[in-house]
Parts: sequence; structure tokens; C-alpha cells
Amino acid sequence: MNKALATSLGSVVQLHPGRSVRSLLRDADLSIPELKRLLDLTQQVKNGRQRYASALRGRYLSLLFEKPSLRTRMTFELAIKQLGGDCVLQTGMIADREPLKDVARNLARWTDAIVARTYSQETIEELARWSGIPVVNALSDLYHPCQALADMFTLKERFGQLWGLKLAYVGDGNNMAHSLLLCCARLGISCSVATPPGYEPKAEIAAEAKRLARESGVEVEITHDPSAAVRSADAVYTDVWASMGHESEIEERKKVFSPYQVNEALLSKARKNTVFMHCMPAKRGLEVTDSVMESAQSVAFEQAENRLHVQKALLLMLLQ
Ligand code: CP
Ligand code: NVA
Repeated sequence: MNKALATSLGSVVQLHPGRSVRSLLRDADLSIPELKRLLDLTQQVKNGRQRYASALRGRYLSLLFEKPSLRTRMTFELAIKQLGGDCVLQTGMIADREPLKDVARNLARWTDAIVARTYSQETIEELARWSGIPVVNALSDLYHPCQALADMFTLKERFGQLWGLKLAYVGDGNNMAHSLLLCCARLGISCSVATPPGYEPKAEIAAEAKRLARESGVEVEITHDPSAAVRSADAVYTDVWASMGHESEIEERKKVFSPYQVNEALLSKARKNTVFMHCMPAKRGLEVTDSVMESAQSVAFEQAENRLHVQKALLLMLLQ
């Protein structure tokens, strides 16, 4: 990329402390005050849908999905439409017909922001760099920030306040684990992640979460022991054992992950009033039993509902 262009585009999409958020490429793009403001705005949006009915009138989103989706795609479509705007959708690999830098600059000529679900995190970062318009990560192999934001809001709704809670994540050290680690650590939620050996979260993300947790005065633990992880947890979270792109590994993974299933026995080792969380889609009989998924402790459908509200708040922060 031309250096002057890179600098000028960079300054458009980079986040600076004190400046309003322009893109959500990775969880860390939201400062802690922005994160808290987003959760407050989510509550206002949830309480008063009509108030925001034309807030984004005449604004258009490009939705790019390299991977399947139910919740993310529908809630972004609904969010922009309920805010008075509209969107256009493209599925399939983003840069299979032409260079990504050309796609990005085309979209920037037609629409106001890009929401992208990709395989590689780099694709999302390159879209932001070349388009110069706000870009939202709708899941990459590395992060799922919109889901983690809805999860933080769900916990806040359930417990009233976040600081001092403990979340246990049991399963694959994947994109969901990464985003939860980074959000929990910054909001003062202790986080224990239990994975099979070899499936831990990325070391640099775990180290960053530990640093952030120390600043917040809480703890981050990475372990291989699911019972230890859920001890005194207020929330027990799991996700699929084979993420999109890794489906062919499922038979091998079933053997390794079976001690990490969230079932009634494991959940009973957490606090009495613990909630069960899942980003969905859920594979019943694998990472979670049907009885836990359907139990009164499960807030999985609240999480899914809150995707809509939190993404409306995010679009308002990015586009207003
Ligand atoms: N939780 C989530 O992102 O669901 P989808 O894959 O259906 O979008
Ligand atoms: N870790 C899962 C999350 C799905 C919402 C995946 O990437 O497939």
C-alpha cells in the first residue's frame, strides 16, 4: 500500500483514547469506558425501541459472510432496519474473484460501514485498512466480539453488576474463549478457562487477558481441570468443540473433549445460582447436554436476544 494512503486510512480507522469508536475489529478496540458506555446504551435501546427508529435513516451496511450464520446475520439485518437504515448481503469468500483491497474500496463507495464474518482476522483488518469506513468483526477465527458484548450485557441484566463475578469457560480455546477472556478481564469478571491439553487459548491473548485482569483487580486462570474452573463460578459457558472450518476434526475432538461436557454433574459444582451460557449453535450431547441447555439456569436465549440490542447500540456508536 502507498505509505501516505496507509497513514491517512490508518488514522481514520485507528482508535484513540477519548475519541469515539470507529471500528470493532477486535475486542480491545473498545476502551473500558467505551465498553461500559456501550452496555448502558444497549439498555436504553432495549428499553425504548421507538426512540431510535430513525436514528440511522439513510445509512447502509455491507454484510459480508464467508461462513454460515443465523443469529449474527439476522440480528445485524434487523438492527440496521429497526434503526431506520438498510443493508446488502454478500455470502462466500470475500476475495475469491478480485483482490480484497478492490472489494473494500468498492463497498466504501456504496455503503457506510462493513460487517464481516471471515476465516482470517487479517481479512477483517485489511477491509478496515482499505475501505476507510467502520468495520465490525462479526466473527473471525480469532475473535467473536459482538457475541462477547451481548454476553456481558446478559450477565449485567442477570446479576445487576459485573465487577467481582466469575465466569468459567469450558471447552475449546477458540474465538469465543478469546473474546470472553478479553471482555471479562476488562470489566472486572474473573475468568477460568478449562480446555483439553493442546486446545488452550492463544498464549498471547491469555497473557493480555491476565495483564488486563490484574489492572481490574480480578483473576484469569487457564487450566485443564473443568471441575476446578467451575468452582464458585457465577456463569458456566461453553461453545462447540469444532468451530466453523474445523468440522472435519469432530470425531477426533469428541474423544479429547468428552470430559469437558457441561452436564448437570459439572454444573452442580458451580455456585447454586450459576447461569449456563452458550453462544449457539449448540450441539446437544456433545459440549452440552439437552437438560442443561433447556434448564432454568440456561440464559442462552437471552444471549441470542441481546445480540440484537447490543449491535444496535454498537451501530449507533459507530455511525451516529
Ligand atoms: N452465536 C452466533 O454467532 O451465531 P451464528 O453463527 O448463528 O451467527
Ligand atoms: N466458535 C464457534 C462460534 C460460533 C458462533 C465458531 O467459530 O464456529
